[in-house]
Amino acid sequence: MTTSTVPAQRPADQAPGTPILEATGVIMRFGGLTAVNNVDLTVNSGEIVGLIGPNGAGKTTFFNCLTGLYVPTEGTVRYKGTVLPPKPHLVTQAGIARTFQNIRLFANMTVLENVLVGRHTRTKEGLFSAILRGPGYRRAEAESRERAMELLAFCGLDHKAEHLARNLPYGEQRKLEIARALASDPGLLLLDEPTAGMNPQETRAAEELVFAIRDKGIAILVIEHDMRFIFNLCDRTAVLVQGQKIVEGDRETVQNDERVITAYLGAPLEGATEAAAATEAPAASTDPSTEDDQ
Ligand SMILES: Nc1ncnc2c1ncn2[C@@H]1O[C@H](COP(=O)(O)OP(=O)(O)OP(=O)(O)O)[C@@H](O)[C@H]1O
Ligand SMILES: [Mg+2]
Repeated sequence: MTTSTVPAQRPADQAPGTPILEATGVIMRFGGLTAVNNVDLTVNSGEIVGLIGPNGAGKTTFFNCLTGLYVPTEGTVRYKGTVLPPKPHLVTQAGIARTFQNIRLFANMTVLENVLVGRHTRTKEGLFSAILRGPGYRRAEAESRERAMELLAFCGLDHKAEHLARNLPYGEQRKLEIARALASDPGLLLLDEPTAGMNPQETRAAEELVFAIRDKGIAILVIEHDMRFIFNLCDRTAVLVQGQKIVEGDRETVQNDERVITAYLGAPLEGATEAAAATEAPAASTDPSTEDDQ
């Protein structure tokens, strides 16, 4: 502990306003369909940025491009100034963690074990050490468990540590996904519909959790359909419609934009209509066959 009255210096990459994520010209094509069309997006340190848009707009596909699940057809993704290799484990190692629209937990593992899995990118103990279970391994394991329990307490799940993940109510499963993502010590957290299926009370609690994560120095990019959640939380919000970012700004800017209103009311969007017709992109896809990569 320091007794100095000089304010602690933030690391250079944590200064407010420093770009954490810079996506430039990201395009993702599936055959004839352009799901993400030339999207630029920056998230700065200390920010909570929202990503909204109608069903099938390309939001999850964009996340998949950021996290290496998809190799974008074109464009680059930089994290703290370095271009990311399009491999999920390398992206996690670099410092980006995510949750999934369709919850991906190890259903038959305990809550604590799920978080421990999320820590493996940050533990140095190798295979031999694990097999031999030497003092180094035992120390690392004890530290990991302690850290995992801290994260569970932070997310309000420590009392469920020994429960099987599949026995948690839906809202708590979403929180567990967040705890597991935090276990990799990210600098940026991507949340894909974190409140889907939650009741209003759980949603308000999730807002508090997201603010608390931001206060730990983790930048956040969040996809949500719940506009109240988005506008309560986000410093900035970008709107995707048919793969294109049509507007980005604060609550006022987004809410008053004619194109956003038109997109949500379902009327065709000028320009994008032609692109959609050319590629046969569904305007509001809820096609369950695409859920595998979400
Ligand atoms: N792996 C894939 N192969 C082919 N098409 C895909 C694939 N993944 C997504 N798509 C298509 O890309 C478009 C964008 O889908 P995406 O899931 O990114 O939308 P979204 O904005 O996340 O929608 P929602 O709000 O419903 O989650 C859709 O037309 C979808 O069918
Ligand atoms: Mg989605």
